[in-house]
Amino acid sequence: MVLISSRNEGTSANLAPMSSAFWLGWRAMLGLGVGSKTAQNLLRTGECVLNLPSDSMAPAVDRLALTTGADPVPASKQRRGYRHEPDKFGRSGLTPVDSETVEPPRVAECPVNMECVVEAVHPIADQDDALRGSTAAFEVRVQRVHVHESIRMAGTSDRIDPDAWRPLIMSFQKFYGLGAQLHPSTLASIPERLYRTADADRAREAPLAGRPTRLGAGTPLRQVTRAAGRCRGPRGGSRR
Ligand SMILES: Cc1cc2nc3c(=O)[nH]c(=O)nc-3n(C[C@H](O)[C@H](O)[C@H](O)COP(=O)(O)O)c2cc1C
Repeated sequence: MVLISSRNEGTSANLAPMSSAFWLGWRAMLGLGVGSKTAQNLLRTGECVLNLPSDSMAPAVDRLALTTGADPVPASKQRRGYRHEPDKFGRSGLTPVDSETVEPPRVAECPVNMECVVEAVHPIADQDDALRGSTAAFEVRVQRVHVHESIRMAGTSDRIDPDAWRPLIMSFQKFYGLGAQLHPSTLASIPERLYRTADADRAREAPLAGRPTRLGAGTPLRQVTRAAGRCRGPRGGSRR
């Protein structure tokens, strides 16, 4: 599970649960309904924080279910029982703390926070008249990572201890944690430095928050996709 924080039009923040995420190096692909407030905020500001909740946080995450920062509530969400919630942090009971390089706040209780910028937006089902414009894959680049000391691998500055990290996982719409590790992983024997790409250097040079936003207000999805496509960085290798 991921809790995405993003900035609304004013100074308030939005917070939304999502599970359709995968990771490639210092980038993530986020599958989002374009009608969500989160998607609209990402298109407008080009920024977000990906907060990873631990398995003990399922009740807080679930309090955000069927709520949206969008007002009015889109018809498709109304049909599913969604209601407008302007104060997602208050609703969840989670605590916002300032980020370093982006405007949206981080979630203090989440053991991992990743401050991100949107690099590209890839339309999904673009060839389908019925589905076009409804969902998109947001490619975001991580430029700052915060982790709780409790999950940092002892004696390292940049490794997570998988035996200490208990992520919240959604499987077919129900919440699960991890069981015990099943088998040693050969993949995990590859040195971390061999995964390093230019994105790691960019992350170190990320300017502090307060700089002008990367995308213009109200920029349509297709325009964003083309603009973002031009500033894609060099391709890094897959971890797999
Ligand atoms: C457990 C859970 C997982 C979800 N996963 C996704 C997802 O992967 N992609 C997505 O677009 N919406 C997902 N949703 C629905 C969003 O939370 C929903 O679209 C909501 O409107 C987002 O809030 P917002 O409109 O304020 O951005 C999920 C909701 C819950 C409760």
